[in-house]
Order: sequence, then structure tokens, then C-alpha cells
Amino acid sequence: MALAQAQALPATETIVPDKIRDGIDLQINGEHYRHTGDPQMPLLWYLRDVLRLTGTKYGGEHGENGADLILLKGKATSAISVTVAKAANTEIVTIEGLAANDGTLHPVQQAFIDEDAIGCGYCTPGWIIASVDLLKRKKQPSDDDIDTLPNVCRCGCQTRVRRAIKRVAAGKAGQP
Ligand code: FES
Repeated sequence: MALAQAQALPATETIVPDKIRDGIDLQINGEHYRHTGDPQMPLLWYLRDVLRLTGTKYGGEHGENGADLILLKGKATSAISVTVAKAANTEIVTIEGLAANDGTLHPVQQAFIDEDAIGCGYCTPGWIIASVDLLKRKKQPSDDDIDTLPNVCRCGCQTRVRRAIKRVAAGKAGQP
């Protein structure tokens, strides 16, 4: 029986190995990386599982709750919806790359602390990335503008998030 099974296996000559990949160049938080794995890997898995940049969270199969947002060419983008190949040679900023090199927080990060707009923290990086993008597009965002963001907070921080965004718009991040 064991011999019959062994004979049923395909001949080794029929196995064609993958072509050696040249790699894909990625610019993430000001650093250069080369990915030589599957070009169709979602960027989220590359960030989290390869680079261990775990601030960006899983936000649903299509990024529907906004927890997986990163800045791609300055625009808030779902990291699970973009493949590594699509993100090649494009400036990518994750939550880990928002603060200045000397550690000074981005005003949006500071305002989230000022307003205590953080519960368990799972959704927070996505909210912050979305808010950075929103504030670039709208200097004084209204409640309606903020409500267009895809982000969801199951800890109920939405009201404090609104206050944080408006604090940045008023130039009061880091002030009493
Ligand atoms: S802080 Fe917990 S889900 Fe938003």
C-alpha cells in the first residue's frame, strides 16, 4: 500500500520553482526596505509581520473600521487593501513614523492625549492617521466632516476624538 502511494506522487521534473524575485522597494517612515516575498502580500501584513510595526491594526477584511489606515503619499489608505507591489516606491507613513525625529509628538497625537481620546487604544492609530489626512484637507473640520471618517471606536471615544481634532484645528495641541 505504501509503495502504491509513493508511485502516485508526481515526478520531480514536473515541479517548476518560482522565479527568483528582484524585490520591491518600499519607503516606510523615511527608511528604505526591499521585499523579496510575494508581491501580492497586503501591505498590512508586511508592516506587522515582517517589519513588526504593529501600531497599524487589522480593521476588517476591507479595512472597513479604519484601524488599518496608513498614509500613502500623504493620503489615508487602508493598508490591507493595498498590496506591497502597489505601494512600491511610494512614501508610506505609519503611526510609528508620525512623531518628529527628536520624539516630539505630531500635534494630532498630542491632542489625543490632551483630550484623553484613547480607551483600549486599538482604534487610536487609525483615528490619528485619518485625522492627519482630514486636517490637511480641511483646516477647520466640522462635526459632519469628522463623521465622514471610516473609523469606529468600540470604547466610545468618538466625542473625545472630535474634541481632539478641533483642538488641533484651533492650534491648541499641547496647551491646557
Ligand atoms: S479606544 Fe478601544 S476601540 Fe477605540
